[in-house]
Amino acid sequence: MIGVFDSGVGGLTVVKEIYKAYPNCKIVYFGDTARLPYGTKGASFVKRYSKKIVKWLISHGADSIIIACNTSSAWAADSLRQEFKDIPILEMIGPAIEQACLYTKNKRIGIIGTPGTIRSGVYEKRLAKKGCRVFAKACPLFVPMVEEGLVSGNIVEEVAKRYLAPLKAKGIDVLILACTHYPLLKSTIQKIIGKEVRIVNPAEAVVKGIGFYKKGKSSFYFSDQPYNLQKISKLCFERKIKPIVNDPFNS
Ligand code: DGL
Repeated sequence: MIGVFDSGVGGLTVVKEIYKAYPNCKIVYFGDTARLPYGTKGASFVKRYSKKIVKWLISHGADSIIIACNTSSAWAADSLRQEFKDIPILEMIGPAIEQACLYTKNKRIGIIGTPGTIRSGVYEKRLAKKGCRVFAKACPLFVPMVEEGLVSGNIVEEVAKRYLAPLKAKGIDVLILACTHYPLLKSTIQKIIGKEVRIVNPAEAVVKGIGFYKKGKSSFYFSDQPYNLQKISKLCFERKIKPIVNDPFNS
């Protein structure tokens, strides 16, 4: 069974891609809504809670993990792999980089993500080794906009213009959407950045790494009431989600 975790509801964009490829896949999902956002927190906080969550997912039957949260992938993937050597741990960054390198012709790659993901510098470091130049921009307003169900229209386009103009000016030919929420803004982002720029959705890339899975009914746990869950899940897929709300780390 695959354990998927995120800071909140955004990870459903990853579940969407898993279901597209494997509709009967049994998932145990954990959204840390009691402590979100992760994108503005420090590295040690993100590492600490990511570790607690992976332990919890394993105790709930997960035998492989997908770190859907890009901020956790950026700060915690290495330490999680060290700590939990016996199970496969997939994260969002490696697959996104591979996909970006396949797409780019001019080796000028744009990254957008949370302040934490951008501050980690992980994309710059790894893409520099592949001879690419990276232009990164934190886009914190995108997260609350998506959570309000605001994924297109004037307001979103104005915000996207502000964030994306500096990347456009750098002549990037690939843009990585390094945050769980951003795939829901893909058509607006594509419109603003231009159709000549290829967009990488790390969630699509990570699913290619799933080697085996169990069939069955998934469960969705949240550490606090998930805000606008049905709205977000509707933007992702047809299924209705029945949340189980309980904070295992608050006792
Ligand atoms: N899930 C986070 C990420 O992908 C975005 C939301 C947050 O800041 O917690 O980085």
